[in-house]
Amino acid sequence: MPSTAIVGLQWGDEGKGKIIDSLAAQADVVARYAGGNNAGHTVIVQDEKFVLHLIPGGILHDGTINLIGRGLVVDLGALIEEIDGLSARGIPVEERLRLDGSAQVIFPYHRHVDGLVEKWRGKGRIGTTGRGIGPAYADKVARTGIRVADILDEKVFEQRLLAALAEKSAVIEKVYGQAPENYEELFETSRAQAERLRPLIVDGGALLRDASQEGKRILFEGAQGSMLDLDAGTYPYVTSSWTGIWGIAGGTGFPPNRLSRSLAVTKAYCTRVGEGPFPTELFGEMGERLREAGNEYGATTGRPRRCGWFDMLASRYAAELNGLDGVFMTNLDVLSGFETIGVGMGYKTPQGEVSRFPAEFSSLEQVEPIWIEMPGWSEDITSVQSYSDLPETAQDYLRFLEKGLGVPIERVSVGPDRCQSFLGENGQENLW
Ligand code: IMP
Repeated sequence: MPSTAIVGLQWGDEGKGKIIDSLAAQADVVARYAGGNNAGHTVIVQDEKFVLHLIPGGILHDGTINLIGRGLVVDLGALIEEIDGLSARGIPVEERLRLDGSAQVIFPYHRHVDGLVEKWRGKGRIGTTGRGIGPAYADKVARTGIRVADILDEKVFEQRLLAALAEKSAVIEKVYGQAPENYEELFETSRAQAERLRPLIVDGGALLRDASQEGKRILFEGAQGSMLDLDAGTYPYVTSSWTGIWGIAGGTGFPPNRLSRSLAVTKAYCTRVGEGPFPTELFGEMGERLREAGNEYGATTGRPRRCGWFDMLASRYAAELNGLDGVFMTNLDVLSGFETIGVGMGYKTPQGEVSRFPAEFSSLEQVEPIWIEMPGWSEDITSVQSYSDLPETAQDYLRFLEKGLGVPIERVSVGPDRCQSFLGENGQENLW
């Protein structure tokens, strides 16, 4: 019956992969509910690195079922590549993986349109991952999307693909002046991919509800971050799905009142990839120093991440929205060596100073942070194993963030390896 959700508190890349991996070890089912292969969750196990894009983070654990929920947009080719890559490393992926038949499919034309639209946006581009996420979700909402189960029915697929291509090819050809899609090739490739995946296809909602009835532990794995959420985030510089806790019920078919714990992951500073407002961003030497210290380059696209100090307003807003029970604080080790550490505690806006995230603003581009400076520490903390062994100033920094967020820090992470984390000062052993 216990079910725990882990989401990102910031703009993605909070280090969810490692945290999900550690909780997945105790879970019977791990389910993803939103996004697609725009995500990149890194897990390091005994010096071996795994980067998961679509496959949930329980795949490395024996006896865990991993569900790709109906709320995802799935690039079947990318999924098969990921399955084959992990299988080649000895992981029995097909035993452990399930795919909801209602999940929407990302076709090559979605990726194509993603790139074309970004180019057309020019200066207003979002900086998408180019994986076709937005166009696939747009089709879902417009009801011209195609689900995995639709491809498995040859007749249905033929009808739906012809209808979709009539519109897509016209846009690609007439608006963007590019070659139209090849129907036969797309039909054959997609059919073969879906047939290959057929043994994995399930009603994901039923799987989760049954598992819950049977008293099994379910872990919901968020992708991206709450500030990239389609409704809650910094629109239009967001992804096209519901990344927060609220996305779980719709994206899986698991009733919202059955969720027992809501947890989020946040870095001890802040990063963002792609365009869009980032009030506490650091520029020049400081931003560069943080990027190099944290090796802040995207797991999916390799793009350098924008870096800045912790934004208390945005994080508190996300913590409130998610109704959090606790947070995981990651990358604390990256801050070692900074003489002082900034925290954005307010914004100066054209309308005056605010101490609460101004979600009603049309643009955050014009806000300036109001900083507080905390003393840093010089010690390498990557082998610290308990809160009390942290330098005093690091403990103070965590206490300050915990108080500001209003939720306990459950775990502190000081490096990428599974063993580099420990209980927060007010953390609980049991997270279920
Ligand atoms: P899309 O999800 O590819 O449409 O991209 C929309 C925005 O979300 C862009 O700013 C991306 O950089 C950002 N984004 C999407 N996925 C991730 C992620 O997993 N981590 C961080 N940023 C992401």
